[in-house]
Amino acid sequence: MNIAFIGYGQVGSALADQLQRRGHTVTLAAHNPESDSVKAALLRNPSLQVAAPKAAVAAAEVVFIATPYAAAAEALAGVVDELAGKILVDCTNPVGPGLSHGLGSAQSGSERMQAQLPTTQVVKAFTIYGFENFENNVFPGHNTKPVMMFCGRDAGAKAKVAGLIAQLDWEPLDVGGL
Ligand SMILES: NC(=O)c1ccc[n+]([C@@H]2O[C@H](COP(=O)([O-])OP(=O)(O)OC[C@H]3O[C@@H](n4cnc5c(N)ncnc54)[C@H](OP(=O)(O)O)[C@@H]3O)[C@@H](O)[C@H]2O)c1
Repeated sequence: MNIAFIGYGQVGSALADQLQRRGHTVTLAAHNPESDSVKAALLRNPSLQVAAPKAAVAAAEVVFIATPYAAAAEALAGVVDELAGKILVDCTNPVGPGLSHGLGSAQSGSERMQAQLPTTQVVKAFTIYGFENFENNVFPGHNTKPVMMFCGRDAGAKAKVAGLIAQLDWEPLDVGGL
């Protein structure tokens, strides 16, 4: 599957690396191809591709967003048309002051993202663990897989993301809507 990443820092580069190792073609949708985070992601996995955001998203079936929440709306605004009809995996957390919910718990970050992208299917996943667990989710001494919760409005999109979650050796758990 062609997969693009908007944001490839601690979270994005770990997931991009793991998905490429499972056989996917993974492209960094690079707003700045010279940035330290592009260089670090390529150092970790030289098989990752790099392209401009519009081209990377246009060629992808599934797109991950793993920017700071505050940067997400602006990053997505440039690829709204390219995202139409596609799946967007939202890895962002809207964190407010003192680790409060950045939207005052009035709305989830993914609901707001979905409202910005009405023709895209947003699926929330990969937010409930620290990035170290995306680099390595093996827990020696335990005989169960760690659970990865996900949610979204579209059953087909959720099934596809659940498949990716399972490929990454998590137990997918559908927790409903956004
Ligand atoms: N860290 C964790 O353990 C963890 C766990 C779960 C969820 N999260 C959530 O995951 C998201 C990413 O966290 P992180 O720790 O991976 O952050 P990070 O290491 O700081 O990486 C942020 C990434 O976003 C990119 N970015 C920043 N501003 C951008 C913009 N305007 N347009 C496009 N790309 C932009 C950066 O690219 P450049 O460097 O090229 O600017 C960088 O690749 C956050 O929403 C966070 O709340 C974090």
